[in-house]
Amino acid sequence: MNILVVGSGGREFSIGRMLKKDSVVEKLYFAPGNGATDSLGENLSIKDYNELADFAKANAIDLTIVGPEAPLVDGIVDIFKAKGLTIFGPSKEAARLEGSKVYMKNFLAKYNIPTARYIETDSIDDAFKFIDTLPTPVVVKADGLCAGKGVIIATTHDEAKIAVSEMLSGKSFGDAGKKVIVEEFLDGYELSMFAICDGKDYILLPAAQDHKRLMDNDEGPNTGGMGAYAPTPLVNEEIYQKVKERVIRPTLDGMQKEGAPFEGVLFIGLMIVNGEPITLEFNVRFGDPECEILMPLMKTPARELFYKAATGKLDELNVEFENKFAVGVVMASGNYPYSDSVPAEIVVDEIVHEDIKENTHISYAGVTKEDGILYATGGRVLVCVGLGDSIKQARDRAYMLCGQVHYVGKKLRTDIAYQAL
Ligand code: AMP
Ligand code: GLY
Repeated sequence: MNILVVGSGGREFSIGRMLKKDSVVEKLYFAPGNGATDSLGENLSIKDYNELADFAKANAIDLTIVGPEAPLVDGIVDIFKAKGLTIFGPSKEAARLEGSKVYMKNFLAKYNIPTARYIETDSIDDAFKFIDTLPTPVVVKADGLCAGKGVIIATTHDEAKIAVSEMLSGKSFGDAGKKVIVEEFLDGYELSMFAICDGKDYILLPAAQDHKRLMDNDEGPNTGGMGAYAPTPLVNEEIYQKVKERVIRPTLDGMQKEGAPFEGVLFIGLMIVNGEPITLEFNVRFGDPECEILMPLMKTPARELFYKAATGKLDELNVEFENKFAVGVVMASGNYPYSDSVPAEIVVDEIVHEDIKENTHISYAGVTKEDGILYATGGRVLVCVGLGDSIKQARDRAYMLCGQVHYVGKKLRTDIAYQAL
């Protein structure tokens, strides 16, 4: 089987890493990939989705897996399907669940899926009136894609009003902020859940927890995620059942009714408030770094899961997971998340400890390769993943690996998985 992975992050590396180990997979391509994915397969520099689909046809690609949201929201799935190709991901219409927060919130409301009380509006007066009815903090969100920066948690009413004014005027996020969501703040703990969907059926993966803030103790600015672990003991069978019955089933049924059956990864951002799962948001792709810790927990080949999902046959599949825990610690570059950093050579010490060698690995993200040398080129550089029989063991192994990786400006949190320990 020949497979194409679209994307360039640690998420795509981690999917590719599983595919590389799979004897059924013959040729593996990445578009565009990164400086390390070329050790797993071949990197392609084709940017145009039509050209990429032509490449897939000409090279007998049996399955394309799309990592990031941007190509999905742009309609890459529709383009590939129109050419008769098999691709795993939501259509452009279904990807609106992530592409527009207004669409997502209205969908949740329409199908009675629990979410924070909100209004969507492009009127400054309506927004201000609603803000005055809410206790603080108040949450303000831009409608469109803002690379994870479009959510403001305002500690005062005035701060919320300033955020709304700047969004609606186009000052803070351009067109993405022309409509806003104002919603109540939910106080609880956050979880990431992932359902692999084929339009009608789904498979729920073990629940994960991300760490969005840059610094230890959840301080500092928001990032794309500084580390994750799974499965989290913060989720019991009751919460899984509630998420299935109250969130995933109505979402799949609702999207069918909307004429946009959901295929792909439904990423459910949840806040657990007094034991009740409340949906904060949907994304239509794997989380990063969550994907990096979920992939190594799969016993069933990832290729089989994605292929069955892309061909509407999840009901035929019985997915098994390793009876283990995974912890991933992100190593970012010096100026992350503010600005780019000067490329810095990455040196990984030889790992002599058998135990560490066997139970850890690196998923590479923001790296380039020159003359066989890897350079950290900014953003999130890589994820050190540790596996173990307990979260503590997995975490200790991940941090042992972190200690073996060096580059100028290396930045990481030292408390990943603290909520579980
Ligand atoms: P979102 O992109 O909607 O997931 O928002 C980004 C982050 O903001 C989330 O991961 C939460 O940490 C936080 N957040 C969003 N909405 C709320 C809310 N209603 N209450 C509390 N925190 C929120
Ligand atoms: N780690 C969160 C995300 O990928 O959006």
